[in-house]
Amino acid sequence: PRKIILDCDPGHDDAIAMMLALASPELSVLGVTTVYGNVGVDKTTRNALVVREVLQATVPVYRGADRPLVRDRISAEAVHGESGLDGPHLPEPTRSEEEFHAVRFIVDTVMANPGEVTLVPTGSLTNVALALRLEPRLAENVRGIVLMGGSVDLGNWTPAAEFNILCDPEAARIVFESGVKLTMFGLNATHQTPASPERVARLRALGTTVGAFTADLLDFFRGHHEERYGWNGAPIHDACVVAYLVRPDLFEMKSMYVEIDTTNGPSAGRTVCDFWRVTGKAPNADVAMNIDVNGFYDLLVERVGTYA
Ligand code: BDR
Ligand code: CA
Repeated sequence: PRKIILDCDPGHDDAIAMMLALASPELSVLGVTTVYGNVGVDKTTRNALVVREVLQATVPVYRGADRPLVRDRISAEAVHGESGLDGPHLPEPTRSEEEFHAVRFIVDTVMANPGEVTLVPTGSLTNVALALRLEPRLAENVRGIVLMGGSVDLGNWTPAAEFNILCDPEAARIVFESGVKLTMFGLNATHQTPASPERVARLRALGTTVGAFTADLLDFFRGHHEERYGWNGAPIHDACVVAYLVRPDLFEMKSMYVEIDTTNGPSAGRTVCDFWRVTGKAPNADVAMNIDVNGFYDLLVERVGTYA
């Protein structure tokens, strides 16, 4: 199985990414690291522990950065609720996170497994940027970074910027300029996966605790997307990256040069994607363009269904 570290800010779709990863024998999840993002890091860490509890999993959880490198912290209670995971009943976690900092865990784990570990960030890129700075040899020793963030086209937090990248554009710039093999799942792709009531019904029909938990997450997550976009379901952004690692054949990718706007203008935090190769710069990322959405949901339902 492919070794991964899931670096996340749960978050409804992060929780589902975690579920999918831990249910997939193609992957070996070495650890879950947390970062501030949708809500503060105390809450995202607690949410990771809650999800681990619901899944009855044993993967270690490490707490990471509590703020961006340079800018003020932003958050997304409007989308994910006060807890960051509003909707389902959240059981009290029975075990806590590890003592070790997430960034140290990332560095030590990658360096102990040269060329083998894939980083899978589904939140702001602060932990990954800090790891790249703490250990400059990380870039040559990591297998790749497969991330949710940015977009080839429109933003969701400003007209130009997607939330994860906007959280910490300087960190994103460090990652995109690192020379590491990058795979990017932006909104242009993830917006193809709205969890319609029919799709949520398939998860609920599993009749299991985890199936009901997932359905409750998606029912709550629909609210904001109905209001803001008029969509009958929330896209499960973060689960796309995990689905790709399990079933790359479900995705159509295009390689291109991607640059992060770290200015303070109206496009701050934008992933500027050289789709037409007008800059002449060598591509630094494989960017998701299209998803076989039915295949994606078949995979999700099948894997969520493996939990007792
Ligand atoms: C991203 O922002 C967060 O709210 C979601 O969890 C996802 O990672 C989408 O812009
Ligand atoms: Ca996220």
